[in-house]
Amino acid sequence: MTKRPFIIDCDTGTDDAIAIVAALYCPEIRVKAITSVNGNVPHKYTSWNNLNLVEYLGKDIPVAKGAVKPIIGPFVEEGNASGVHGSTGLGDLELPVAKREFAKRIASELIYEMAVEEKGELELLVIGPMTNIAIALLQHEDLPGLIKHIWFMGGAARGGNVTPTAEFNIWVDPEAAHVVLRSGIPMTMVGLDVTEKAAMIEEDAAELHNVDTPAGRVVTHLLEFMFHRRKTGSEAALMHDALALASAVFPQCLKCEDCFVDVECRGTYSYGHTFVDRRKQTGKAPNVSVALEIDTPMFRKWLVEMVKNSAKEV
Ligand code: BDR
Ligand code: CA
Repeated sequence: MTKRPFIIDCDTGTDDAIAIVAALYCPEIRVKAITSVNGNVPHKYTSWNNLNLVEYLGKDIPVAKGAVKPIIGPFVEEGNASGVHGSTGLGDLELPVAKREFAKRIASELIYEMAVEEKGELELLVIGPMTNIAIALLQHEDLPGLIKHIWFMGGAARGGNVTPTAEFNIWVDPEAAHVVLRSGIPMTMVGLDVTEKAAMIEEDAAELHNVDTPAGRVVTHLLEFMFHRRKTGSEAALMHDALALASAVFPQCLKCEDCFVDVECRGTYSYGHTFVDRRKQTGKAPNVSVALEIDTPMFRKWLVEMVKNSAKEV
């Protein structure tokens, strides 16, 4: 089977880390690189989390540094989402410090270079603020024609988790999201409408307890952290980012609708809001396939299987 080439762009983050594990053991895809962005926690942590994780999993994949700030929006130095992900992004998980080095190229350049190399077949899994992708698009006019699909976690047709109208990834860098949404690249949006229903439960962690691999240990540890976090009144074990991966490789667990989507880049209450024209009231052509329904048990089962794959030779 020819594996689909992917780059994962992320702000790792507890649920990003689980999405990365799932992607690395997903038989359908080949992760060509992981690129880091400021988001859940500052870039100095997200980049090292990616490097440490990849080395701990024993994978030889380039990890690139990326944008340390949003394009325009206010930059929060410490603690963007540290209440959810812990001060360094991986909860209380401490991975050994990687000995290998970061890729020579910065994220936006690596994305472009690999897109050219793959001749239009490259797909992007974007699970943090979209800064790196927007920079790449602003730098390279021909990039839209070289990316096959963007699968992103971000936004919501209804509501938000940072403000009543804005979801975190989009709220951190609305201008970047605007650039990406207007690029013409085919894309799928996996937002809070579905990700807030994508919670893993104790039963899933119990299934993974016997998976005695680095991947199994990382995911079990992160899930335990999330269950504890839930008890302190914070977010449940929501798999926002792994669900975006599922949209690409296991679409059976989601129902999507084609809609016109854009982002509010200003406004008293609506900064970072994803405007989703479900009723086609604007007359604008749909640019995004928006996930609106999820079969949660199906998704959880799939995710457990991806982690279990680490015990086989994929
Ligand atoms: C998104 O924000 C981050 O906290 C998660 O990693 C996810 O990508 C959910 O709003
Ligand atoms: Ca994320």
